[in-house]
Amino acid sequence: MQDDDKRLAAEAAVEEVRDGMLVGLGTGSTVRFAIQALGRRVAEGLRIEAVATSIDSARKAAALGIAVRDFAGVAAVDLTIDGADEVDARLWAIKGAGGAMLREKIVAAASTRMVVIADASKRVAAIGAAKLPVEVLPFAEAFVTARLGALGAAVALRERATDNGNLVLDARFAAFPAARALAAALDATPGVLGHGLFLDEVDATYVADRGVVTRLERAEASG
Ligand code: A5P
Repeated sequence: MQDDDKRLAAEAAVEEVRDGMLVGLGTGSTVRFAIQALGRRVAEGLRIEAVATSIDSARKAAALGIAVRDFAGVAAVDLTIDGADEVDARLWAIKGAGGAMLREKIVAAASTRMVVIADASKRVAAIGAAKLPVEVLPFAEAFVTARLGALGAAVALRERATDNGNLVLDARFAAFPAARALAAALDATPGVLGHGLFLDEVDATYVADRGVVTRLERAEASG
């Protein structure tokens, strides 16, 4: 059921893809369905190129015949399709359960349009219950852990490094701080390379709930 909704949301978003686009591919189990749908359209003759936010998504796309470019040589992307761990009615999202949030934010920032695809379990009244992943230079592990603690977080270090060779600290807040102030504090902390708070990047969401897909555009979003 949840997988059906992930697939429906993904397929609805992939309908936005047009010939000639450079498409950004997010990461995760929902994006996997988008890559499959895109692969089918490419097999039917759609002419696109893609950039990926993870090694995993790049491999999955290439295996389906999608031309994947190295993002290091790309400055602008037409449309990026990505998942989220939580997204609310302001189109604020928490991302990064899969550890790809730094590359995801860079690709989102480069994109003319970025859409989030999700099943209804990801839709929340206000983001903040999910753990907030923070990508950290290994040199700064103890320093950033202490800074996160001072911001009110319980911090857990992930065993697995990111595709960039860095650490992920998962920050859980008993009471989620004001999101913009938190993002600013993280952005201003030396050693923090990225984090999963996406407050301005998401242009629209496709959320599927028991077979019904709803699209919400930022212009219609509250707040
Ligand atoms: C990857 O690091 C994440 O940002 C994913 O986009 C997010 O965790 C959603 O993944 P699922 O679609 O697997 O829930």
